[in-house]
Amino acid sequence: MTDTVRTWWKEAVFYQIYPRSFLDTNGDGIGDLKGITRRLDYLEWLGVNAVWISPVYRSPMEDNGYDISDYRQIDPVFGTNDDMWELLKEAKRRNIRVIMDLVVNHCSDEHPWFEKAVAEPDSEEAGYFIFRKGKDGKEPNNWRSNFGGSVWEALPDGRYYMHTFSAKQPDLNWENPKLRKQIYDMMKWWLDKGISGFRVDAITFIKKDPEFHSVETEDGSRYPIENFENYPGIGKFLEEMKQEVLEPYQCMTVAEAPGVPESQLGDYEGENGYFSMIFDFTWDQFPEGADKASAETFTAWREAMIKGQLLAQKTGWCPIFLENHDQPRCPDKFFRAEEIDGKNITMLAALYFLMFGTPFIYQGQEIGMRNYPMKSMSDVYDRSAHIRFQEAAAAGTTEEEFIACLNEKGRDHARTPFQWSAGANAGFTDGTSWIPVHPDFRACNVEDESGDADSVLQFYRRLIRLRRQEPYRDIFVYGTIEFPELPGKIIGYKRKKDGREITVLCNFSGEAAEPGASAPGPGTEILLSNYENRGIYDGRLRAWEAVVCLSRQIRDQK
Ligand code: GLC
Ligand code: CA
Repeated sequence: MTDTVRTWWKEAVFYQIYPRSFLDTNGDGIGDLKGITRRLDYLEWLGVNAVWISPVYRSPMEDNGYDISDYRQIDPVFGTNDDMWELLKEAKRRNIRVIMDLVVNHCSDEHPWFEKAVAEPDSEEAGYFIFRKGKDGKEPNNWRSNFGGSVWEALPDGRYYMHTFSAKQPDLNWENPKLRKQIYDMMKWWLDKGISGFRVDAITFIKKDPEFHSVETEDGSRYPIENFENYPGIGKFLEEMKQEVLEPYQCMTVAEAPGVPESQLGDYEGENGYFSMIFDFTWDQFPEGADKASAETFTAWREAMIKGQLLAQKTGWCPIFLENHDQPRCPDKFFRAEEIDGKNITMLAALYFLMFGTPFIYQGQEIGMRNYPMKSMSDVYDRSAHIRFQEAAAAGTTEEEFIACLNEKGRDHARTPFQWSAGANAGFTDGTSWIPVHPDFRACNVEDESGDADSVLQFYRRLIRLRRQEPYRDIFVYGTIEFPELPGKIIGYKRKKDGREITVLCNFSGEAAEPGASAPGPGTEILLSNYENRGIYDGRLRAWEAVVCLSRQIRDQK
């Protein structure tokens, strides 16, 4: 069943901002809130009407803000609370909604709660965290952290505390109702300030096996996710959060919720689910080490994507996306370096953007930003990669091997400075950037691409306009989706509503191809293509071509 309840977040086009790398306005080399406010005109020009801002709360920046030491203060590196109110006001003036990151599986070890919990084991705050005694001078169990190593960190007094991510990110104890109330109050405080919702971080880790069983694994190295990822009983907390905060505030949420099986999708993102939608990470990239050119890789990926879309359509709603701040750049995910050009980047854009769900664009994706070529660990800024490298090196992995892996999957690719112009530091800062600018910024930047009708940026603008414009908006937002059988490396879908139909066809290859019988007939009107002079569809797709066609039915109705 397609969800037809109308809400703003189904009709929105979201843009994710990683503030640290967006625009620096005071020359310290780090992006800031004033930088976002200064670029709201750009976002309006692009056509997006909602932004997700990655964490800007006070933080020691172990994990670039995903380690929070004060939930109600903006970190000085990003500006002040007043800068935030100014940003909200200016965004509202442009009809751009703002959602913030909600990081409540853990906080920072420099949060006053944790400092008190360490200093005073009997304090109320000690109950906000997960402390256990060691066993025979060792960690309480063999659970492993998402960033490598044990989830347990020893304190001088013999207690251990649990951290699903780095040791500077102690997990919060959701079993404690006082802690939960603190979180709900904080959420309401932000909603009262005028934000429209939250992107909910790592939420499926909040419930742990209450017995803290060790997990038997063959090689002892598996992450025991079955004991603290979407663990049974988590629904009680999520339902409570919904009743206490999300529902009364009509708060939009998009959750990072790894480990949710198909059978529970409805609980998470159905009409009455805990969240408005959750990210589906099953088809956002090819599997590690896959041959990007092979037909098998493509076919397996196409099937996963179709499955994800049909499930979302059946259960409720979903975000559609190709990138985020934890992931490589999308051209590099899907194509071999030597074949990447503007055509396959725009094909990819058309392919995901008109599917079922709410589209998200990650900063820089709209200009075709690329992976940063890293040569050694000194090019790596992501702390989690360094933690993982220590562990891998101890097990015999060389730096060269590790870098090869980071060049494919590392998180820094998404974090190089946004490329505004061909000027110094790509126009990102007047100072020295905290992370180097990608060497391709002279060819790939907003200033040049905005003046080039054929650029990736202008294609994104056209796509956004098409998705948001009448009379097609209703079909793209509320229409059903179907995936016809298509030959070879062609992928496509039909969006249908009230007897009207739009077909999107993409050629995922550098060779011309013919979609055959299940595609619209030659002569169909093309609404959008990534090639020039494409008014009418002739039954063929050129290399890496994407076309959006008005189906025969709608032509007949005119
Ligand atoms: C999420 C964030 C990631 C962060 C982690 C811990 O996965 O997307 O950037 O490191 O949670 O907060
Ligand atoms: Ca700055």
